[in-house]
Amino acid sequence: MKKIYTIYFSATGTTQKCVEKVCAGLGMKPMSEINLADNLKTKLPEFMADDVVVIGVPVYGGRIPVVVADTLSHLKGNGVAAIAMVIYGNRDYDDALLELTDLLTDKDFHVIGAGAFIGQHSIFPKVGVSRPDLSDDQCLIKFGKECLNALSDGRNSSEVPYIKGKKPYKHSANIVLAPVAKEQDCVKCGACVRKCPVGAISIDEPWITDTTKCISCGRCITLCSQKARKHSGLKYSIIGAIFKACFSKRREPEWTVVK
Ligand SMILES: Cc1cc2nc3c(=O)[nH]c(=O)nc-3n(C[C@H](O)[C@H](O)[C@H](O)COP(=O)(O)O)c2cc1C
Ligand code: SF4
Ligand code: SF4
Repeated sequence: MKKIYTIYFSATGTTQKCVEKVCAGLGMKPMSEINLADNLKTKLPEFMADDVVVIGVPVYGGRIPVVVADTLSHLKGNGVAAIAMVIYGNRDYDDALLELTDLLTDKDFHVIGAGAFIGQHSIFPKVGVSRPDLSDDQCLIKFGKECLNALSDGRNSSEVPYIKGKKPYKHSANIVLAPVAKEQDCVKCGACVRKCPVGAISIDEPWITDTTKCISCGRCITLCSQKARKHSGLKYSIIGAIFKACFSKRREPEWTVVK
């Protein structure tokens, strides 16, 4: 009996939703779910022969986030099957899926399926609005079912066909758009301090963000019950307008499964 593990980094919930739909397609409830956004230093599971691991990562700057790649580099695949997924905000996934697949292969996983799916952009929510939608959900479930067929047929000797991307991987532009709050809007509940994956918010002044640590993941915005934390400023407005103008045309999911 196969066991499914899920490991993902989901700061604002989209990656998690997509991973869950693929598991629905696989028709199996995961025996363990790890959201690395809760703890990047969490103890990672050890895998055995029949296990299947679904790994979902959001695309940041056309790559997988550095902090996530660091954590995933501690995985030991022991030859088990992995399903690699990247979720992106309707701009592009560039080299992220290739990077994730390469990393997993390097860590001794057998990647049986790899896919890039679309979620609402977590920095610029006017891009990829309401994705994943019903049509995305159907694709995610179909991808899960195709992976299940590959597993059932024992297609374990071949590699996944073509994955978009090239090496050296794209240089990821490091523009930090750090959300902040107004002091008077913050009730000092500490939720953002506890949940920031990289410890960029201090308990003494939670309305400030340490821009040397922040990865712009948006988690603090999503969880603040006072809606105090947000993106603002001229740089954010300008880049937001450019993104809406350039990247609103709908993109569709792409995936590939071992033959
Ligand atoms: C720092 C950062 C960089 C991003 N870079 C890209 C990108 O290069 N291409 C893209 O289409 N979306 C990009 N996005 C959007 C996310 O990939 C997308 O919103 C994803 O669904 C977020 O996943 P989550 O909801 O699980 O956190 C970026 C988001 C962040 C926070
Ligand atoms: S979650 Fe919101 S209200 Fe709570 S400490 Fe953070 S900014 Fe303040
Ligand atoms: S401060 Fe930055 S890294 Fe921390 S949760 Fe907010 S957006 Fe994410």
